[in-house]
Order: sequence, then C-alpha cells, then structure tokens
Amino acid sequence: MLISIVYDSGFGHTARVAEALAAGVREVETAEAKLFPVANGPLDWKTLEQSDAIVFGSPTYNGLISAKLKQFFEDSTKLAWTGQKWRNKIAAGFTNSGAQHGDKLNSLISMALFAAQHGMIWVGLDMMPGNSSSSGSTKDLNRLGSWLGVMTQSNTDEAPDVAPGNSDLETAAYMGRRVAQTVRRLQPA
Ligand SMILES: Cc1cc2nc3c(=O)[nH]c(=O)nc-3n(C[C@H](O)[C@H](O)[C@H](O)COP(=O)(O)O)c2cc1C
Repeated sequence: MLISIVYDSGFGHTARVAEALAAGVREVETAEAKLFPVANGPLDWKTLEQSDAIVFGSPTYNGLISAKLKQFFEDSTKLAWTGQKWRNKIAAGFTNSGAQHGDKLNSLISMALFAAQHGMIWVGLDMMPGNSSSSGSTKDLNRLGSWLGVMTQSNTDEAPDVAPGNSDLETAAYMGRRVAQTVRRLQPA
C-alpha cells in the first residue's frame, strides 16, 4: 500500500507536518509513505498514479494554498485529471499557518474540491475538537478543532524545530494512520 504526500513548505514548518503524517502512515502494517515536496522540481507522476492515496499539504499563504501547490494542481489537469488517473484514490489534506485561525479552512476546502474534481474519495479528520473546554489545553490533539483536514499552527517567531508543536504533529500522525487504515478497509480481501 502506497500513500503519497504532496506538499509545499516555504520555511520548513509544513514540512514537519508532512513528515509526521508520513510517520503515522508507516505505523500501519504494509503501508509505505512517500514525500513529494513540490518545490523540489518535476514530480514523479507515475508513482502518484500508482499510489493508493494522495495527501495534499500546504502552508496557508494569504488565506489560500501556496502558489507552488496551486501550480501542482494546475499541472495535474493535463497529467492526471485528463483520463481521471486518480479516480477512487483516497485523498486528505493538511495546512499550517501563523495565526491560530489564519483562514486555514479556505486552503482545506480548495484541496477537497480539487480531490473531488479528480474523482477522489476525501477523508476528513474523525477527531473531537481539542482545547474546547475548561479542562482542555493547547496540548490536546486537534487543538484547533478542524474536521475537514488537519490544521496546524506555527508561531511566526519560532523555527520549524519547535513549531508546530507536538500536539499538532501527533494530530498529523493520527491522520496518516487513518488514511492508511481507510485504504486497507477499501481494498478487496
Ligand atoms: C506570503 C505569506 C502569506 C501568509 N499568509 C498567512 C495567512 O493568510 N494566514 C496565516 O495565519 N498565516 C499566514 N502566513 C504565515 C505562514 O502561514 C506561517 O509562517 C507558516 O508557518 C509557514 O509555513 P511554512 O514554513 O511551511 O512555509 C503567511 C506567510 C507568508 C510568507
């Protein structure tokens, strides 16, 4: 089972989330994760076509996915959308921003729409919102309370070795396991 993670990260914070999600995927028996940073030049479209799932990730820039991930989306029109090469693959998404809210939902919506246009099957985050009661804290998983995908937040004065924090990275790892387990559930016995 192969799960590809296609992501952008201008300054390394979203890359940490991608790596955490990949680690979660690898916890599931027989699941392999491959990371595709879109900034690193031409992508291996054949491997994407052979993947069981593709997870999209981006920093939220200007309330949107980054220009580099959008370029990948546009390139996919010719290389994958025509012929519906990703039809029925599992899809999921994550986004990281500087502000607590930061208009991240718009980025996840763009990814889910994109996946739908490819005929993919979108998997959301089945996790109760953390940090939403008097006994909650920022250490809770899903501390930003997202369902459509994984939202993480990195303080703008902190380097990627400390931001985003552990609860966000663990939330991403959970999503990695969930995507791998969903692929397994849909595979014929
Ligand atoms: C061009 C640009 C636009 C940004 N726009 C937003 C935004 O709309 N909302 C937000 O909360 N943070 C915004 N930020 C902050 C980034 O989302 C934040 O620094 C994030 O951790 C960057 O992730 P990266 O290191 O993977 O690039 C912006 C940063 C840049 C450089």
